[in-house]
Amino acid sequence: MSTARLEYNGQSWDFPVIEGTEKEHGIDISELRSKTGLITLDEGYGNTGSCQSAITYIDGDIGILRYRGYPIEQLAEHSTFVETAWLVIYGQLPTEKQRQRFSDLLTKYAMIHESMRNHFQGFPTNAPPMAILSAMINAIGCFTPEVLGSDNELNFEENAARLLSQVRSIAAATFKMNAGQPMMYPRPEYKYAENFLHMMFSVPNARITPDPEVARALNQFLILHADHEQNCSTSTVRMVASSGANMYASVSAGVSALWGPLHGGANVAVVEMLEDIRKSGMTPQVYMEKVKDKNSNLRLMGFGHRVYRNFDPRSRILQKAADIILTKLKINDPLLDIARHLEDVALSDSYFVDRKLYPNVDFYSGIILRAIGIPLNMFTVMFAIGRMPGWIANYKEIHDATRLKINRPRQIYTGELIRDYIPRDQRM
Ligand code: ACO
Repeated sequence: MSTARLEYNGQSWDFPVIEGTEKEHGIDISELRSKTGLITLDEGYGNTGSCQSAITYIDGDIGILRYRGYPIEQLAEHSTFVETAWLVIYGQLPTEKQRQRFSDLLTKYAMIHESMRNHFQGFPTNAPPMAILSAMINAIGCFTPEVLGSDNELNFEENAARLLSQVRSIAAATFKMNAGQPMMYPRPEYKYAENFLHMMFSVPNARITPDPEVARALNQFLILHADHEQNCSTSTVRMVASSGANMYASVSAGVSALWGPLHGGANVAVVEMLEDIRKSGMTPQVYMEKVKDKNSNLRLMGFGHRVYRNFDPRSRILQKAADIILTKLKINDPLLDIARHLEDVALSDSYFVDRKLYPNVDFYSGIILRAIGIPLNMFTVMFAIGRMPGWIANYKEIHDATRLKINRPRQIYTGELIRDYIPRDQRM
């Protein structure tokens, strides 16, 4: 095993260098503090490996993304979301028997507890869907106490299936509440994506027949979002799980982390940006000049990524998927033209090229979601549905560890030195 040497204050220490299966290297500093009294400081964690994980591999320099070793391009082309979910969670493509069993569990648990339906009425009709999603995922635990019980292997599979299945029922119910329409029950004859489309767009007196092309686009969207190693929300899930919290509590925290505009909320921000450009009649070039002006505080939403410094493979697949679905549905979306134009300008502009800023997963995903009728305020919820397998798989890694170790980073304190309490009447 190779080591890395640290020298400080005339002393030196060797630390083991860990090698991953793809030959990435990390210095194991787990004994740094006990040996040296020092800690590392890495705000934003850009240089910190928080765990060893066997789920997803990314090489951001050359635009590689693989779930359990399988390239994202192959999964997006050939797999379904449910099959990919099983792969991400369990590490292998399911056999037909395993797939069928999981699929049966998804059907069994698709319906949320009847009393939970009343909870939707308690939210204001304009409540943000991500807030409802986060709250309702925790509520599942209140209505199904077995969720809070021990996670033996059988329970785990049931809990994972229940979560994956019900998150889509909660999302559709949130939309219905917003739209002032009755909630639709899931139908056992539909597959995962079709059932979601039915719960979203059917009404009691007019049932839709889910379009297979739309279901395929939705499957692709969900597969592309299924996991992305130690991003902000997944790290949050792991952090919460490390305290011993149950799967639902851990994932509900992940939903809150995903909500922010620098993370999952970016898919909303992209469409808002494209709409603003369209409404204002501004050319993409003019908008780009504003983005480059540091005083404007504007960012080109859907561009840039902490990890990808070449291209985001998901954005390439989604760009193609957007073209296909818009053509199939005979939709002419001016936002797609603006997006393409912005991308062309950015890819030949030194500001973006020098900073290695390329379209990320959110740049084209909103155009697909619009085409299939998902309203803007539900975009990040769609991302959350897609990310469920990754969160569940990361929860499982923490849960299956031989010894549960709570995640507890340290800090460099920069506050006041010790001082005496000042009575209220003596304060300036
Ligand atoms: N538009 C304009 N400039 C940008 C952008 C952007 N989208 N992204 C980064 N930059 C610039 C920064 O201003 C900075 O410039 P400087 O060096 O002159 O100060 C430089 O590029 C580096 O930016 P950082 O913020 O340090 O990059 P970081 O890796 O921390 O941020 C992030 C990554 C948050 C994704 C960023 O690129 C961004 O804000 N993008 C827009 C929001 C977005 O699309 N988020 C979705 C990410 S994907 C996901 O979470 C699913």
